[in-house]
Amino acid sequence: MNHSTAKPLSINDLANMKQRGEKISCLTAYDASFSALIDHVGIDIMLVGDSLGMTVQGHDTTLPVTITDMVYHTRCVNSARKRAFIIADLPFMAYPTAVIAAENAAKLMQVGGAQMVKLEGAKTDIISFLVGQGIPVCGHLGLLPQHINQLGNYAVQGKKPIDAEKIMADAQQLEQAGAALLVLECVPAKLAKEISIQLSIPVIGIGAGIACDGQVLVLHDMLNIGTSKRPRFSKDFMQYAESIEAAIRAYHQAVKQSLFPTIDHSF
Ligand code: KIV
Repeated sequence: MNHSTAKPLSINDLANMKQRGEKISCLTAYDASFSALIDHVGIDIMLVGDSLGMTVQGHDTTLPVTITDMVYHTRCVNSARKRAFIIADLPFMAYPTAVIAAENAAKLMQVGGAQMVKLEGAKTDIISFLVGQGIPVCGHLGLLPQHINQLGNYAVQGKKPIDAEKIMADAQQLEQAGAALLVLECVPAKLAKEISIQLSIPVIGIGAGIACDGQVLVLHDMLNIGTSKRPRFSKDFMQYAESIEAAIRAYHQAVKQSLFPTIDHSF
């Protein structure tokens, strides 16, 4: 397919990909230049993640990222996209109540151009309120980086049966609340597989094994240009690539062909 002439993907296209068993490729993006490249390669979703606090701003965590930062970067990404679906993160403390969440989500959509917003945790009341306002929502369960000061580390979540059951129950409640997509971060592959089967919405994994409906990686990790150590679940796609475009293409093809992640990148 010539992606430069393709029409923008919609929420329905993503749902249809799950229905027909086509894997969904997703990468983080934070600026116009990478947005153009990622879009050109044919990646399905660009996630303007609050990981930009670490990859772009140089912080140790995502906590310092503000809604103003997120709107700015979402706008940069949107300015160059032609086909990819754009999801933007609601950053730390941008959704303490449903109304504040809706106001901030509106900024990401109206000013930034996001088609969907993502928020961390089992916030079902906030999700149903947003959905009621016409705001598409992506949930995020498993490892929640905005909770790092409560968690103490970035360890795999849901290893104990009781924790796995909670993540499964939360995932089902998020779907019932109206979430149209779910990101599962750093959970055992077996749990992610069960959740992907149980849910009718697409489940996008990062450190969640091969059986998810799609995969997401942090751009700087897969290009091996991050300032911090690359997580085990990520892969250096630059290692055998002649260019950044070739590395992104290799990742896209590996996801589409279910060649990434391997057991080495899973828990
Ligand atoms: O902020 C981000 O990049 C994310 C991914 C790790 C899923 O939320």
